[in-house]
Parts: sequence; structure tokens; C-alpha cells
Amino acid sequence: MEKKTGIGKAHSKIILMGEHSVVYGHPAIALPLKNIEVTCRITAGDETLKFDMTDPLVTAIFAALEYLGQEDAQLTYLVDSQVPQRRGMGSSAAVAIAAIRAIFDYFDQDLTADLLENLVNQAEMIAHSNPSGLDAKTCLSDRPIKFIRNLGFASLTMNLDAYLVIADTGIHGHTSEAVDKVRKSGQTALPLLKNLGDLALEAEKAIEQADLQALGNAMSQAHGLLARLGVSCPEADHLVQVARSAGALGAKMSGGGLGGCIIALVKTSEEAERLIQKLKEEGAINTWTEKL
Ligand code: MEV
Repeated sequence: MEKKTGIGKAHSKIILMGEHSVVYGHPAIALPLKNIEVTCRITAGDETLKFDMTDPLVTAIFAALEYLGQEDAQLTYLVDSQVPQRRGMGSSAAVAIAAIRAIFDYFDQDLTADLLENLVNQAEMIAHSNPSGLDAKTCLSDRPIKFIRNLGFASLTMNLDAYLVIADTGIHGHTSEAVDKVRKSGQTALPLLKNLGDLALEAEKAIEQADLQALGNAMSQAHGLLARLGVSCPEADHLVQVARSAGALGAKMSGGGLGGCIIALVKTSEEAERLIQKLKEEGAINTWTEKL
């Protein structure tokens, strides 16, 4: 029996290490942001949905309806999102997950984890042409993960007694363009990508040993490499510099880049507060703090 409203929720994510290099099979580390959520509500509508297959949300809904053989269902959808769009925080993956969950809830159908991931990745192909699957996997995980494309993922234990400050440059990120830019750099990008993968492994070791200085160093070095790849932007470079000058243990851009967010590692919540103040004075339009 059809229910009146189908509801689906999902949370956002942030990449700690390994954006871009993950597309080329190097390891990455990413964290779910469980308090930053998207909710999608599906209700009966007066007409069948118009499918604009350039929109990842609509593509996600279509993928779910097609799987269920319900392409002609008359529905409306409403999305309520705390995840800022195009800021490297997994908005497209989170919205797709919430929408697919809502469709399955509406039709009262079971949705396995594998099927959900498969359908989300179909939608992510629209959002980011050649997605590694990292965003979807992190938005589907309740724990930090280490992820290697086509190989799988492992949950990471993170007891760092530290804080990650996330600051939004206010500039829309451009993931597809950034991924294309790296691809077009061809052979010259390969050593930088390998170095980024090695830094992700150093970060993993630092997390295991709770070595905050080593983690911070790996983050700052990764920012330098991402900037050399041409996927940072002046606003992100500026906020990274501000964070480092203000005493952060490390800082970097996060996500696809050419805009979006930066992340900075600090030891205490007081340091996080002070850094947030400084980043806002220097142009950050929004900030979040995540305990690690
Ligand atoms: C985008 O959030 C992360 C990238 O590594 C792309 C991908 O993993 O598909 C830039």
C-alpha cells in the first residue's frame, strides 16, 4: 500500500585527506558530519514528474522510481537541507540518498545498503561526471572512513581529542571542472596525486597514533599539492593561511575545490572558537566545528 508521505534523511561529509587523488585509486580519508542533515519528503502529486536528467536530485528520484517500476507515479518532492550546496560537503550525495530513501519509504519497499549506494552513484555520475564514490560512501557511513576506489573502505577509529574547524569561503565549488582540470594536466599531475595519496596514508598513521602535529603537517602539505594541481582558489588559500598563522596545527582546502570549504585542525574547543572568529573576520561566510 502506498503511504501518504515518504521520508528519507541523510547526513553530509567532509574530506580530511585525499580529494582528487582518490579518483586515481589513491587512498582518502573522510568524515561523516552527522549533525548536518538533509530530509526529503515525497507525497502524492497531480502529475508524473518531469525528469531533468541534468539535476542529480531528479536523477536520484528517477533511478529509484525506475528500479521500483514506478516511473509513471504522480508525486511531488520537498527537500529541506542544512547542507550548503556546492561547498564540498557532499550536498549532491546527501540529497540523492535522502531522496532515494524517501521514495522507497513512500512505496514501503526495503532498501538494502548495496542497492542504495548503487542508485546514489548513478545520480552522482550526473553531479560529478566520474565520481570516485567517496562522497556517497561517506554520506552513507556513521564513522570516519578510509576509502580506496574500486577496492572498498574501512571504518576508522578517531579518538583525537582535537577539533576540526570547517570554514566556507562563500565561493561555489566546481567539482566537475576541477576533476577535468586535473585529468587534462595528464602526466604532470601524476606525481602530485601520488604524493597526495602518500599524505593520506601518513594522516591515517597519525590518526592511529593520535599524533596531532603529524596530522596537521600532512593536511598543510596536502593543501600545497592541491594548490599546485590548480584546484584551490585565492579565497581558500587565504583562509588556509589565516588558520595557520592563527596557530592551527594544519589546514587545507577540502572537496573538489575551485571554491568551497577549508578545514583546520586545532587542539581545544577554545582554540576552535578563536579560530572561527578570525576566519569570519577574514571572509568565511559560515563555519562548523567537528570533534575528532
Ligand atoms: C569531491 O567531493 C571529491 C573528488 O575527489 C571527486 C571524487 O572523489 O569523485 C574531487
